This record gives sequence, C-alpha cells and structure tokens, in this order.
Amino acid sequence: MTKDIKKIALLTGGGDCPGLNAVIRAVTKSAILNYGYEVIGYKFGYRGLYNNDFIKLDLATVSGLVSKGGTILYSSNKDNLFDYTVEEDGKTVKKDVSDVAVENLKKEGVDVLIVIGGDGTLTSARDFSRKGVKVIGVPKTIDNDLGSTDITFGFNTAIDIATEALDRLHTTAESHHRIMILEVMGRNAGFIALESGIAGSASVIILPEIPYDINKIVQKIEERKRNGYLFTIIVVSEGAKPKDGEVVVAKIVSDSPDPIRLGGIGNKLAADLEKLVKDREVRCTVLGHLQRGGTTCTVDRILSTRYGVAAVELINEGKFGSMVCLKGNEVSYDSLENVIGNNKQVDPSGELVTIAKKTGISFAD
Ligand code: F6P
Repeated sequence: MTKDIKKIALLTGGGDCPGLNAVIRAVTKSAILNYGYEVIGYKFGYRGLYNNDFIKLDLATVSGLVSKGGTILYSSNKDNLFDYTVEEDGKTVKKDVSDVAVENLKKEGVDVLIVIGGDGTLTSARDFSRKGVKVIGVPKTIDNDLGSTDITFGFNTAIDIATEALDRLHTTAESHHRIMILEVMGRNAGFIALESGIAGSASVIILPEIPYDINKIVQKIEERKRNGYLFTIIVVSEGAKPKDGEVVVAKIVSDSPDPIRLGGIGNKLAADLEKLVKDREVRCTVLGHLQRGGTTCTVDRILSTRYGVAAVELINEGKFGSMVCLKGNEVSYDSLENVIGNNKQVDPSGELVTIAKKTGISFAD
C-alpha cells in the first residue's frame, strides 16, 4: 500500500468518447471513499496541466455522471506538451514545455496523474512517466485500436449506435430497393464496421484491413437480386481503401499531432457503384460524431467504472507507469511502455471475420 499519496489529478485527452465521465466519477468516488485522496481535474487535457487550470472533484461534482457522454473536464487533441505551440518573440514556435507541467504538478502537491486517453494522449503519459511523474493510464477510444487491452471504453456505445443506424437503414433501403452505404469511424482499424456490420446484418463489410474489389461488391448485389432481395446494406470503415487505391482524407488539422482526419470513402463508393449498378440508386449516410455523442451504453458504464476503480487500486499498489486494461473478462494492467506503438487492427483471418463470411457476409476481397 502506498502511504504517501494524498492528492491525485485526472485529465481527459484526445477525441471525446462515451464513458469518460463514468471513469471520472468512478476514480473520484473510489479515491475519496476508500483512500481519502484529494482529487482535482485538469481542464482541456494537457493544456490545463500546462496552464494550471483545474477544478476540484468531489462527490457532488461527479454525481449523476455515469450515463453522461462527453467529459466534464473538456478535452483537446491538439496539445502535446512535448511539442507544444507557443509564442516567442512574436513568432509561433514548437517547444518541449513538459517541465512546466511537472512544476505545476509539484506546485499543487499532486502525487499521481491519471490520464484517460487513446494512443496520442497515452504516448505523452508514457513520456511523463519517463520523466519521473507517477502516471496511471486508462484506455479510451471508440476505435478500440489500443494495444494491451481487449477493449477500450466507448467502443460498445459506438457499435450500438452504428448497429441502430444499420437497423434504421434496412427499412428505408427495402422500401426503395436501394443500395445503402453506412460510413463509420475507426481510423485505421475496422472494429466498429466489423462488429456493427455483423450485429446490424450488413451484406457487405468494408474494412481498412481488407482492401476491397468493387466488382466483388457488385457480385454480392447481383447475388442478392437473384435471391429476391432488391436492397443491399453496406457498412464501410472510414479508413478503407480499394485494392488499387488510397484512403480518402476528409481534412488535415495542421495543429494536431495526428493531423489526418479520414472520411469520404462512403460517398466515393456510392458514386463508383452507381456507375456499375444501373438499375438501382445508391445512397450513403455518414454517421460521424453521432458515434461519440449522447448517452453511454450499459456495457461502457460498467467497464468505465471497473477501469476507474482499478486505476485507483493501481495507485494504492504503487504500480505507476501502467495502464488498466481488460484481458478476457479480467481487469488487469500493463506497462505504458508496452501499450504505445502496439496499436491493434482487425485480423482478416480472425474469428469475427470468419463467422461473418460463414454467414454470407462479403468483405469484397
Ligand atoms: O479516434 C476517435 C475518432 O472518432 C476516429 O474514429 C475519427 O477518425 C476521429 O476520432 C475524428 O476526429 P475529430 O473528432 O477530430 O474529427
């Protein structure tokens, strides 16, 4: 048991994600009720740590947060303190300002920093750990692409929303005998498309991990027509690309450490398919940030609570420089050194792709 811990701080970084507030709540409650720690939360991720901008977190502040999407601490996916944009002599320059953050932690008497984030945010957490800061990570992302954990919180809410969207597209696709495409998020990992595609009964699932042949999609549409189904539902991941083509970039956010924002493959595919399937219309729906907003699903409320409590337990056990994770159904932890650089992708010959294929779903490969 770590006796010398009195005060802990939290921050949420990167894109927001359902379950962030549930983690903040679980950490705060568990830390206060079981160990009597004082808890503060930095606002806007690492930017708040740099500006020493924080709020006190107590039982009243976190009351009612288990279901609420977003983050009461706000977030930023632009503020890497190891490569931070500052004004110097009238010029904008990039600088390592991480020492300012370390000083701020000392000044406030913060003993441990809990960082809730995905790849980018946890990379900085690892780097702060290398500088001697006591850090614990909590794995967040709707994309489910972080290494060392079977699941990140937020993913289950995202696939519930994408599955509901596919259910809704089914009825309208059937009424008009249309080909309906749903573009979902996930960056370079196809987990959202794969799992929502299976649960939402898509006929074609297009993933970043399996470049597609458009003629195979047409074959599936024709096969369905021969079987009397005049509509087809396709789910495509934003990071997907044709066998002979490239990913579609929606936007470059130049001041972000990870500047590429994917998006647009759904509409490209719709336009390409309409040239090949002459007798029916093709429409695309881009689900976008709806996948991250609103209420947190039951599975994520529980997972976030497990992760939040586990993060406080790791503090008590003195296991700093690590991230809580889920292995099978067991909450565990791994070193941040192992987590970073080991992002996951869908295994094209894994169980879920196999069962999807065995139930007639095409991956257009
Ligand atoms: O990583 C989460 C995620 O929602 C991705 O699925 C998506 O590509 C990206 O973030 C979108 O980022 P932004 O919120 O900056 O548009």
